[in-house]
Amino acid sequence: MNLSPNETQALVQKTARDYAERVVMPRAAAIDASEAIPGEVLQGLGDLGLLAVNVPTDLGGAGAGTVAYALAVQEVARACASTAVTMSVTNMVGETIAHFGTPSQRSHHCPILAQGHHGLGCFALSEPDAGSDPGAMKTTARRDGGDWVLAGSKQWISGGSAAAVFIVWARTLPAEAGARGLSCFLVEGGTRGLRVGRPEDKMGLRGSSTVPIELADCRVPADALLGQENEGFKVAMMALDGGRIGISAQAIGIARAALEESVRYAKDRHAFGVPIGDHQAIQAKLADMRTQIDAAELLSLRAAWLKEERRPFTREASMAKLFASETAVRVCNDAVQIHGGYGFVRDFPAERHLRDARVTTIYEGTSEIQRLVIARSALAV
Ligand code: CAA
Repeated sequence: MNLSPNETQALVQKTARDYAERVVMPRAAAIDASEAIPGEVLQGLGDLGLLAVNVPTDLGGAGAGTVAYALAVQEVARACASTAVTMSVTNMVGETIAHFGTPSQRSHHCPILAQGHHGLGCFALSEPDAGSDPGAMKTTARRDGGDWVLAGSKQWISGGSAAAVFIVWARTLPAEAGARGLSCFLVEGGTRGLRVGRPEDKMGLRGSSTVPIELADCRVPADALLGQENEGFKVAMMALDGGRIGISAQAIGIARAALEESVRYAKDRHAFGVPIGDHQAIQAKLADMRTQIDAAELLSLRAAWLKEERRPFTREASMAKLFASETAVRVCNDAVQIHGGYGFVRDFPAERHLRDARVTTIYEGTSEIQRLVIARSALAV
């Protein structure tokens, strides 16, 4: 067993850390306040291969593997959680197209997503009435001549206001219910019949847009079908398994930032004549934060390693996502507590970390869904 990153992984980690500290971190508060990530920040991620870390090099990616990807997301999330989710979802969409796409879908979309100049990859699975249970979706796709015509509403689409391409799930066998008879389609931003709604006014991740979309008889060609017809549910599940590793890494990065801020504050701030870090009540919090973050990182990197080894990793990805996201919320809450009143105001980043961490227990599968996946696997033994 070797817990050290190899040369490629260490290089990707260092590249991401340097860029995050130099370019992203100084802009994080402004990204949150202005509700926008500057185009040049995303372009910089693209130039460094960080929007397609695990996409093959012949498709414009870095081809560096899932462990490198998880390490890179952590570094970017430590600097800015909004930028990290944008990076994570674009990586997930690029990987899904690289895995399931036809040669022409792969060679068209993957390089575009890797670059970051032309827009983001977006994942349009959830609907207003179908989140944890995507099998309840109502969006349909019917054949019309050589085309597919999509109709319905999607919700909670990260990055949707700057999409290059959406992966859209729709029911292609109307007589089937649940997970059966779903297919997925590549729908480019700006396609006629695709209407992007007003961004949600969110608690956190305010720099990353989250939008609803309407598909009003949105017509796409036959070759927009991604993967096998009627087998779209499995594409979603496999993409989300990988996506959950990304969200675990994002949560760890946010938690690391909150811990670092807490340590700094505990050394600077005095109470009862000594730095508050000299008080055991604060030390106990810092010790628990550090331990839980390390445990989350081990779970996250184990899931990433299993994926990279092409071994089953569904359960491990859910465990990583569950533990890391709940750890991030706990750690960020403790960071606010350590900062006292200063934790509750925008002059310090602690409150942003807590707001940003909160959604990690919700999107790409709630904690309740992760527990369901883990429990099913335990009961199946
Ligand atoms: N990999 C491959 N196949 C899988 C799979 C996986 N991880 N999980 C299930 N399947 C297959 C099953 O084997 C089954 O196949 P067969 O029909 O051939 O037997 C089929 O899919 C149906 O499986 P289930 O019966 O287990 O399906 P279910 O309806 O009970 O749902 C679930 C399972 C795990 C609860 C799933 O619905 C789920 O993950 N829900 C959460 C959805 C989610 O994470 N949404 C987030 C949306 S993205 C987002 O957050 C926005 C963003 O942009 C960040």
